[in-house]
Amino acid sequence: MKLYIPSFLLALTLTVAAEPLQQVPILSPRQSCNDSVVSCHWREPENTCCSPRYGLVVFVQQWVESYGPPNEFTIHGLWPNNCSGSRAPNRGCDSSRSWNNVATILRNKNPNLYQRMKTFWPSYKGDDNWFWSHEWVKHGTCVSTLNPSCYGSEYTPYQDVIDYFEQVLFLRNEYDVYGALNVAGIFPGGYYSSKAMLDALKQGFGNRAKIDCDRNGQLSEVWLYFNVGGRDHYQLVDAEMDGSCRGRVYYPKK
Ligand SMILES: *[C@@H]1O[C@H](CO)[C@@H](O)[C@H](O)[C@H]1NC(C)=O
Ligand SMILES: *[C@@H]1O[C@H](CO)[C@@H](O)[C@H](O)[C@H]1NC(C)=O
Repeated sequence: MKLYIPSFLLALTLTVAAEPLQQVPILSPRQSCNDSVVSCHWREPENTCCSPRYGLVVFVQQWVESYGPPNEFTIHGLWPNNCSGSRAPNRGCDSSRSWNNVATILRNKNPNLYQRMKTFWPSYKGDDNWFWSHEWVKHGTCVSTLNPSCYGSEYTPYQDVIDYFEQVLFLRNEYDVYGALNVAGIFPGGYYSSKAMLDALKQGFGNRAKIDCDRNGQLSEVWLYFNVGGRDHYQLVDAEMDGSCRGRVYYPKK
């Protein structure tokens, strides 16, 4: 298990530290969260700015031929579920932030993030803006720690959107599925048993993942499950099931 500080939080810390000293800052909820409070280890989160209300977070990466770099999984989404594993509301959690122009928001606010999104989170249906906006509305708005009210006076427009996508890209980088399979001798272009693949991921990450296949027995998705310490210290937990791959799995080249 790895604990880490996302770079955008480091940036925030540095910004805060660089402020003139004449005034003692009142700690906003964003600065005073207790990282030992781990999601789903409560009945109800005491402070939904400091611990995500939907505390079992599913991170889904996908393997789609001709999308994304040949040696990288791309992202399907980051889905905050409630602790029993059932989904957050289908329409998302905050209709007042139902942006349908997420591509434009990212391009304007953070061109570097936008470029990384194009690389690592492409829509295989060809409409990145639709895909990202859908993921934001349905899932991003359910990350209670990103509610604008949680930022206090530090909130700048769309910071919640930026922080959501940065977090997901960070996790993709941190949980390198291609690398974990590769270390175990599992390469695109071959057939492997689903058990060998699950074992490789468990070996690489320390906890069980779930893998899904399409109807032809071809690898399609890898699901990782997390609890969250404090606001955003993602801690991998075991997947409760193995997924839909059976027997021989085809891991195509792309
Ligand atoms: C942080 O949370 C842990 C676990 O709930 C608790 O034991 C500890 O006292 C808390 N620390 C502070 C400073 O509140
Ligand atoms: C979790 O999901 C179930 C089923 O949708 C629902 O009954 C329950 O109220 C949810 N729990 C929370 C904390 O939202």
